[in-house]
Amino acid sequence: MPDSSADLLAAVADCIGPELAEVEKLFHLELASGFKCVDALVRHVSRFRGKMLRPMLVLLTGKACGKLTPSHITIATVVEMVHMATLVHDDVLDEAELRRKGATINHLRGNESAVLLGDYLISHSYHLCSSLDSQMASRAIARTTNQVCEGELLQIDNRNNLDLDEKTYTQIITHKTAVLCAACCQLGATLAGASADTISRMERFGLSLGIAFQIQDDILDILGHTSQVGKTLGIDIEKGKMTLPMIHFMKTAPREHRELLRSLLTIHEPDQVEKIRNLILPSDSIDYARNQARQYTQQARRSIAGLPDSPAKDVLDAMADFVICRTI
Ligand code: IPE
Ligand code: IPE
Ligand code: MG
Ligand code: MG
Repeated sequence: MPDSSADLLAAVADCIGPELAEVEKLFHLELASGFKCVDALVRHVSRFRGKMLRPMLVLLTGKACGKLTPSHITIATVVEMVHMATLVHDDVLDEAELRRKGATINHLRGNESAVLLGDYLISHSYHLCSSLDSQMASRAIARTTNQVCEGELLQIDNRNNLDLDEKTYTQIITHKTAVLCAACCQLGATLAGASADTISRMERFGLSLGIAFQIQDDILDILGHTSQVGKTLGIDIEKGKMTLPMIHFMKTAPREHRELLRSLLTIHEPDQVEKIRNLILPSDSIDYARNQARQYTQQARRSIAGLPDSPAKDVLDAMADFVICRTI
């Protein structure tokens, strides 16, 4: 089993390299536009590639449950388009300047272009998805994007709610992030002809993995280095989004520390994020969040334990670990 990010990438390439290359090709083909101004924006977001985690989930679950089909390539492309649409819009909401080590569209071209490019990406994802014979995948993708929007709206509704509880936080991250990972795995398995029981296990795998993934993302937002992670960090604090380390701190830290965090979160000053990081670091709140993420990872692994042994299953197993160890 791979034991580092580089080993994991090599194992992914061994297992689904040619199919991932097909996804990249279809992605560019579908998004190409006769308008130069549109093509320039698409080229910009395509130049700075991400981890391709969601297409990988579609292809790996498909392979772990049976045989890959042309529909897997289509759906893997669809989920990357959906993901990128949410990123382009998210960067508008977060006023982020850096994404995947490149300038965000909102920073480069302004909010209007970014909102419309996000719409272009989501609209293309539905168009491509509806090219499949069955409506099953289109319904699943649309249901998922409904839930992503609900998660984002619930998050905004709780902006500056310094007493946010863990249950609501989990609801937010489940909807805004994990349901898309769950849909990737569910569709990967369904298109490979898996049984209803296996499909539901794979869906649970994706859901747990997605929750662990977002907890780690939220830890990186506090502790990560921009040059390594490649995106604007510290935004959760700046935008009043309470994440797991801060929620735990507010519940467990000594009263004067909690009051200090409360005042740091309320008064926006240039070194706000650094001060909060220094306050939280000596506590056990980061460890608590890491531990919660690890538990979701273990839950994910249990969901795939019953699959027949295969290289794809091993890579899925390693991916569950990667999402909580990652620094990118
Ligand atoms: C970032 O996702 C958005 C979140 C859900 C936290 P990724 O970290 O998978 O983004 P890319 O695709 O690799 O850039
Ligand atoms: C956004 O969460 C998740 C999405 C559904 C786009 P974040 O705001 O934490 O994502 P990053 O950190 O900007 O990638
Ligand atoms: Mg963001
Ligand atoms: Mg984040």
